[in-house]
Amino acid sequence: MELRLYRSEDCPALARLFHDTVHTVNARDYTPAQRDAWADGQVDLAAWDASFRAHHTLVAEEACEILGFADMDDTGYLDRLYVHRDHQGRGIATALCDALEAACPARSFTTHASLTARPFFEGRGYRVLRRQTVVRRGVAMENFVMMKEVPAMADYRFGFIGTGNMGSALAKAAVKNLSPQQIILSNRTAAKAEALAAQLGCAAGDVRTAAARSEYIFLGVKPQMMAGLLAELQPVLAGRTDSFVLVTMAAGLTMERIAAMAGGDYPVIRIMPNTPCAVGAGVVLYDANARVTGEQLDFFTSAMAGAGLLDRLEERLIDAGSAVAGCGPAFLCLFLEALADGGVACGLPRQKALAYAAKMAEGTAKLMLETNQHPGAMKDAVCSPAGSTIAGVRALEERGFRAAAMDAVIAAMERNRELGK
Ligand SMILES: NC(=O)c1ccc[n+]([C@@H]2O[C@H](COP(=O)([O-])OP(=O)(O)OC[C@H]3O[C@@H](n4cnc5c(N)ncnc54)[C@H](OP(=O)(O)O)[C@@H]3O)[C@@H](O)[C@H]2O)c1
Repeated sequence: MELRLYRSEDCPALARLFHDTVHTVNARDYTPAQRDAWADGQVDLAAWDASFRAHHTLVAEEACEILGFADMDDTGYLDRLYVHRDHQGRGIATALCDALEAACPARSFTTHASLTARPFFEGRGYRVLRRQTVVRRGVAMENFVMMKEVPAMADYRFGFIGTGNMGSALAKAAVKNLSPQQIILSNRTAAKAEALAAQLGCAAGDVRTAAARSEYIFLGVKPQMMAGLLAELQPVLAGRTDSFVLVTMAAGLTMERIAAMAGGDYPVIRIMPNTPCAVGAGVVLYDANARVTGEQLDFFTSAMAGAGLLDRLEERLIDAGSAVAGCGPAFLCLFLEALADGGVACGLPRQKALAYAAKMAEGTAKLMLETNQHPGAMKDAVCSPAGSTIAGVRALEERGFRAAAMDAVIAAMERNRELGK
């Protein structure tokens, strides 16, 4: 059996099928007089053809035999649905309705269902709005006005609000596992989101559109801008009838505060990403409030897997984790720049010195992760007695290198806490 679009030459066969079905399938619920009034065999073919063509009309066919047909208008009104008496119970009506509903722009569907068809529509999620008596050719008969509402669905899986350093790094990671069409980008300076959207193949839109039409709304603005942004979005979020999740990456702001700023007890995922997410080598620490379902969290983590390591960390530790993983790239970059400066001071060309420093850092981190060695042991392995490396280590220790790095992490964490106040 296949479904195909209606053609005008089908009209006489559909009229015959209609007549035959009413007088057989509907015989158990309607008297002969009612059936004659409903289908007297005198269909106005020109009028039927015009309405079939005005509607979205599908025909179910097998080996050149028409088994059934149905038509729906753009408002979601299912006008006719008839399946040949010899082909009942084969799922033909279901296939016709599935295809019509999928193609219809409306988000609710209505029909006038016969007593016979009522259970079928109830099985499809329609409910009876009212029982009505219709009079055809002077004969009264009953049917039901039935309706089904389709839950609103977000148009995009991910919507980014703020495509600065972090928002764009995460969008680049997201397109690895989601199709670009599932992502919308927005930014205060729209040109920035539009340029990234063009590069990644995503949609670009305004902030309100991203908030109204995305399943996961990434809030990629600075913590200081968050209250203003969410105040603007409050009515948009409150007006949504489908489910959505707020994804915050703002340093210091708790999920509770984000939900309060957004004006509702919404599902919130808090993430603490870092910029290497843009090249798939990042760290994303995350936690979720109780409103986020297991399914929502699973989808989120699998969609973001292209960012790098995702690790769930209870919220009270996120400020600390962020001071290491989120702020760490800046600390490491200071060190890399300083190493390269040292190389230049020793006569190396700048580009070579920078490349050596970066590759050394990448390789050392890889070695540590792959061999699971303690960094102290790795340092010892490089320091031969009275050698050059231990001479350098002594110089770093003399200038309080390790205490400075520890203080940097503590200062960053304290600042995270201040930002959250
Ligand atoms: N950078 C990191 O390494 C890092 C790490 C972890 C977490 N985070 C967090 O990520 C967030 C963003 O930081 P960032 O470094 O990406 O900052 P950023 O580069 O300054 O980006 C912020 C972006 O937000 C946009 N924006 C500001 N107000 C807006 C509004 N009302 N509507 C729409 N867009 C708006 C800005 O647009 P304009 O182009 O108009 O300025 C800018 O593109 C912060 O909350 C930060 O705490 C950052």
